[in-house]
Amino acid sequence: MKIIIRPDATAACTTVADMMRTVVRAKGRAVLGLATGRTMEAVYADLLSQEARDPVGLSGCTTFNLDEYCGLAPDSAQSYRAYMEAHLFEAAGLTRAQTHVPDGRASDIDAACTAYENAIRAAGGIDLQLLGIGETGHIGFNEPLSSFASRTRRVQLDARTRSQNAEMFAGLDEDVPTDAVTMGVGTILEARRIVLLATGAAKAGIVARALQGPITAMISATALHFHPDVTVVLDTAAAADLV
Ligand code: F6R
Repeated sequence: MKIIIRPDATAACTTVADMMRTVVRAKGRAVLGLATGRTMEAVYADLLSQEARDPVGLSGCTTFNLDEYCGLAPDSAQSYRAYMEAHLFEAAGLTRAQTHVPDGRASDIDAACTAYENAIRAAGGIDLQLLGIGETGHIGFNEPLSSFASRTRRVQLDARTRSQNAEMFAGLDEDVPTDAVTMGVGTILEARRIVLLATGAAKAGIVARALQGPITAMISATALHFHPDVTVVLDTAAAADLV
């Protein structure tokens, strides 16, 4: 595992956008695994502005998002599909056929999860998987006690995650869906390369436990120690509790 510490969040996001561009440039039609959340907004903004100045072929990529809420209305602004359209897909010229976000509204969720796994396989697997980390140590929405062998499936969100994300739901924890569909830890570990980004002081504690604590299913991010090609990009605030 390689750890890169940058002076601030802007620099950390640029480092991650650069790593994504390197993969897209080298691979041509790369398969990108994407994350949502506040941390990633600046990464996608950077990716888009660099692409406008010096295109590497972002519009030719195939993408798979980590997760989606269950039970939101189809046109919900809080859905992760809406987030991705607003922050990346539309401006990058990525069409519906190129972009995959788990279906939190499928009538048969299990079948939709199997289809998602099959689609990743059919695309040739993920070249680079981008990850954030939640206060529970989740990657994707793999909350504590997710099996390290887990696959794409429906999960219940931890109360801490619902509080963490309440800001996007007018500040009300009870408006945040209770369930989501997420790639599993096992699914994530199959990506050829993984980049985890964490910024800000609020992440310092969980980052230290994920990187320097014991490997445990109570903190899904500790599973990343089993992967041969992981880069963790932090700003100094998120790195503050590392020893
Ligand atoms: C989102 C996702 C989550 C977030 C994590 C951090 O698709 O998979 O694991 O990356 O909850 O979210 P922020 O960046 O909002 O702190």
